[in-house]
Amino acid sequence: MNRTAIVTGATKGIGKAIASRLLQEGWMVVITYSSDTQAATVTYNEFCGMAPGRVYLLQADNSDLSSVETIDGFLDENNLTVDAVILNAGITDRSDFLSIKPENWSKVFTANVHFPVFLLQKIYPRMNEKGSVTFTGSLMGIQPHSVSLAYGVTKASVHALVKNLVKFFTEKQIRINAVAPGFVDTEWQKTKPAEIRSNITRKVAAGRFCTPEELTDVYMLLIENQYMNGEVVVCDGGYSYK
Ligand SMILES: NC(=O)c1ccc[n+]([C@@H]2O[C@H](COP(=O)([O-])OP(=O)(O)OC[C@H]3O[C@@H](n4cnc5c(N)ncnc54)[C@H](OP(=O)(O)O)[C@@H]3O)[C@@H](O)[C@H]2O)c1
Repeated sequence: MNRTAIVTGATKGIGKAIASRLLQEGWMVVITYSSDTQAATVTYNEFCGMAPGRVYLLQADNSDLSSVETIDGFLDENNLTVDAVILNAGITDRSDFLSIKPENWSKVFTANVHFPVFLLQKIYPRMNEKGSVTFTGSLMGIQPHSVSLAYGVTKASVHALVKNLVKFFTEKQIRINAVAPGFVDTEWQKTKPAEIRSNITRKVAAGRFCTPEELTDVYMLLIENQYMNGEVVVCDGGYSYK
C-alpha cells in the first residue's frame, strides 16, 4: 500500500522538489500553498502527469491558524492517514530592526513556529506508527541572520522544537528531524539583487547555491532512516567553513 506524505509549501522551490521525489518513490502526496493559485495549478498538473491519482492540492496559509482545521478536514474528507509530515513552508519579514511591527513579528512566528505545533497536535491521531516529521529549518537559525531578526529567531525555534518534540512522539515511534539548508536556488533567493547573490556564493565553499533537487537526498534520509531522531542536519555547501 502507498504511504502518504503531506508537504507544506510544495508548489515551488524546496517543497516542490521534496514532493516530486516522494511521488517518484511511490508515495501519495498532499501539497499545500498559500496564495499563488496559478503556480499551484501548474505544479499540480505536472505532478498528476507523473503520478496520476497520487496527488492532492490544498490551499492552506500557515500564517493563519485556521488552516490547521482546513488541513485536518481535508485529510478526514479524503480518508487519509499520514506517514510523513514535511513542515516546509516558512515566511520572513525583512523590516529593519527599528521598523519591525508587532503584527509582522507575530505573523512570522505564527507561520514558522505556532502553525507547525498546532498542526501536529491536531493531526496526531491521523499519523501512522513509525512515521516521521521533518521540518525545514535554516542555517540562519544557527548563525545570526544579517537581515531578518524574526526569521533567524523563528528558525532557531524550529531547531529547538525538533529536540523538544521527540519525547511526545515516542509512543507511536514517530521521529522528528529538520534539515537546515544554507542557500538554495529557489524563487526566495532568485529575487535577491545580483550583488547580494554573488556575496553569498563567495562565502560558500562549493562556490554556488544548492539546488532544491540535491537537498531532497537529505530529506529522504530523515524520512526513511528509522534511527535518525531529534537531528538538525545542516546542508550548506561549506558556508560555515570559508
Ligand atoms: N531558499 C533558501 O535559500 C532557503 C534556505 C533555508 C531555508 N529555507 C526555507 O525553505 C522553505 C521553503 O523556501 P523556498 O526557498 O523553497 O521558497 P519558495 O521557492 O518561495 O517556495 C515557497 C513555497 O511555500 C509556499 N508558501 C509560502 N508562504 C506560505 C504560507 N504562509 N503558507 C503555506 N505555504 C506557503 C509557496 O506558495 P505560494 O507561492 O502560494 O505562496 C510555495 O509553494 C522555507 O521555510 C524557507 O524558510 C529556504
